[in-house]
Amino acid sequence: MSLVVENGHKECVNGHKVYVNGKNATNGSHVNGVNGEVPWEKQFLPPALDIDDRARALAVESRLSSLVLCGATLQKVGEVFTREIENGLSKRPSSLQMENTYIPELPDGTEEGVFLALDLGGTNFRVLFLELRGGQLVREDVKHYHISDALRLGTGEELFNFLADCVLDFLRSEDMVDRELSLGFTFSFPMKQHSISSGELITWTKSFKCSGMDGVDVAALLQRCLWDRGLKITVQVLLNDTTGTLVAGAHMDPDVAVGVILGTGSNGCYMERADRVKHWESAHEKVHDVCVDIEWGAFGDNGCLSFLRTEFDNEVDGSSLLAASFTFEKYIGGKYLGELLCAVLRGLAKDGLFPAEPIKGELLSVHVSMFEEDNVSGEWQRTADVLCAACAGAKISRTDALVAQHAARLISNRAAQLVSVCIATILKRMDRAHASVAVDGSVFKKHPRLRHLMDKYIALLAPHHKFTLLAAEDGSGKGSALTAAIAARVAARKS
Ligand code: GLC
Repeated sequence: MSLVVENGHKECVNGHKVYVNGKNATNGSHVNGVNGEVPWEKQFLPPALDIDDRARALAVESRLSSLVLCGATLQKVGEVFTREIENGLSKRPSSLQMENTYIPELPDGTEEGVFLALDLGGTNFRVLFLELRGGQLVREDVKHYHISDALRLGTGEELFNFLADCVLDFLRSEDMVDRELSLGFTFSFPMKQHSISSGELITWTKSFKCSGMDGVDVAALLQRCLWDRGLKITVQVLLNDTTGTLVAGAHMDPDVAVGVILGTGSNGCYMERADRVKHWESAHEKVHDVCVDIEWGAFGDNGCLSFLRTEFDNEVDGSSLLAASFTFEKYIGGKYLGELLCAVLRGLAKDGLFPAEPIKGELLSVHVSMFEEDNVSGEWQRTADVLCAACAGAKISRTDALVAQHAARLISNRAAQLVSVCIATILKRMDRAHASVAVDGSVFKKHPRLRHLMDKYIALLAPHHKFTLLAAEDGSGKGSALTAAIAARVAARKS
């Protein structure tokens, strides 16, 4: 159910109460909290569309009401997330992988040594040489390599041979070809891990779809390609970017117990009690906590979140490289926010509420951030210029630009709410006096409102759990080296 009332502010989908201007829209009773405070439920709502043409504002808000989630819906998402977490940890059917990363502890400031780190997950592949002394990073050399479409969509063998060629090129440029080095491989895709240094790809995500990778251990494949080139490199750890972010964050702040990526894709990991994790392939009696990679991008792929899905999400999913997979990520990830905005504006155009349909692929997540920036600063001309280009030269008025900014705001608000539900659920589950959440990724860094919205929504959803969002730097590089050092420390202790 959703209602449109006098001031055009439509609120709450999915059959929950509708509040407008402090009144319950269905019976007119006042719902303001004591002393005129904004009631909890109302605090999730984005502001109404503020344009002079009230009829158009009403119609746009009505058309986009499915993107507005109220507190009760978000609580329901949290309950489903909790159930899926339990199922995933217990090896029961779940849309959440809840993968054991086999990382049993975080940095303690004693990490030492030199390491190579590889970072694969986006269109750029990075090779890094890092040196740690007394837990501090004292040297970091980096080289970026572009991964072409042909490689991202070709065979796994070709991709991994290319990665090994890049390592060889990097070592040549550093004059280190004959050096023996440990390597941390940040592979930002869902894996079934067998140990801290081995794991199979479960499915490709984002813009990768290489063939021939079923059941292949990605660390072993990389190792073979490196040895084929005569390199004396040992793949010591295989990790996800969220894990690297958690480890790098914990190096900055010992309260860090959650790692989150809000970039091209989205995912989170956290320190879970080892006895709650059922997938172990090695002895773990002495392990108290272990880092679990949630893979929340796939949350709902089994249908448990169908109540959230809008026609715009269906359009984005349908035209994605991997349809019907990682649908939650398509609500949040930078790879999809621009496409979502495009789908929304196309929907409005079809109903005569926007002057033209933007061409698919012309709006990117940087434009969502840009429209939000313009909205924050009360600008509209830049928004209009981008829209004009995206709509093959159509004339875009100030009001049209404000409508598009409103759409960007709804999309951003929903993304912030959904990621906040996940974080709030984890905070409640860990139940610590205070926990810091290390966050990395382009969307988190570049979006002008996201961080503030997350602070607000997490506090509303987990009001009794103190937390800090910490912008983490380079989890895939520094985090990878720190994890390799931790692995070496744990192995030395065992032997
Ligand atoms: C995708 C990957 C996940 C990664 C995330 C952020 O969701 O499946 O492993 O952490 O993107 O890069």
